[in-house]
Amino acid sequence: MRSKHLLVGNWKMNLGPTQARSFAEALLSGIQSVTRTDVWIAPPAISLCHAADVLSGSPIVLGGQNVHWATNGAFTGETSPAFLREAGARFSLVGHSERRIYFGETSDTVAQRTKAALNEGLTPIVCIGETEGERVSGKTERVLEEQLAPVFEQVSNDDSARVVLAYEPVWAIGTGRVASLSEIQSTHAFILALWASRGYQHEGVVLYGGSVNPQNFGSILALKEVDGALVGGASIKLDQWLQLIAIAEHTPLAG
Ligand code: PGA
Repeated sequence: MRSKHLLVGNWKMNLGPTQARSFAEALLSGIQSVTRTDVWIAPPAISLCHAADVLSGSPIVLGGQNVHWATNGAFTGETSPAFLREAGARFSLVGHSERRIYFGETSDTVAQRTKAALNEGLTPIVCIGETEGERVSGKTERVLEEQLAPVFEQVSNDDSARVVLAYEPVWAIGTGRVASLSEIQSTHAFILALWASRGYQHEGVVLYGGSVNPQNFGSILALKEVDGALVGGASIKLDQWLQLIAIAEHTPLAG
């Protein structure tokens, strides 16, 4: 449980440098004061510096969509944790299902990326989630456990305070099919129990992701097991993103 809601926008491969700059400017002029909500955004790596030019000094925090485990070297196409930090990032997504599905990332490399982010002082947002087939065949809990086990191996008790988990059912991402409140509640409770069974002193923080929009967000965030949301499509539509921020601001913190 965090002291504020956490709303994270994942721009995915949208908004190149020029558009990122103008979106950031529009966001800054449209945002009201935020007191109950941390607003984080993950632009494409190439747009990060451009968004940072506009947003540095503002309450909006920037991050990467992925991070490599090495500081530098022969890893064509990857982004070093140190480079991310230098560009203005304070967090990074790791293990997004699009990385796992389209680019073959495994839970072991996700764990290495998590550790590297922590070592660089970046907050890792570790994404986990089952496919539709896995849910239908009753394998959700086993899949989540397998995805988290190598990550837990890399996260010390001290570091656990800086880790965020994002539960994103693959079948709900970008599909308009949001998980039901009872599915979200029971799955988050399972993830929190897994976290606690690891013996961490700090409570787990779990975001929900998958087709979050201004119509469904309020009831999702009201669940006490939900600390916030990881949002794709609705984070690059300024009016929807501002509505999501307003909803978080109006949702009591106890959840
Ligand atoms: P969506 O994406 O909100 O467009 O479903 C969420 C995500 O992939 O993080």
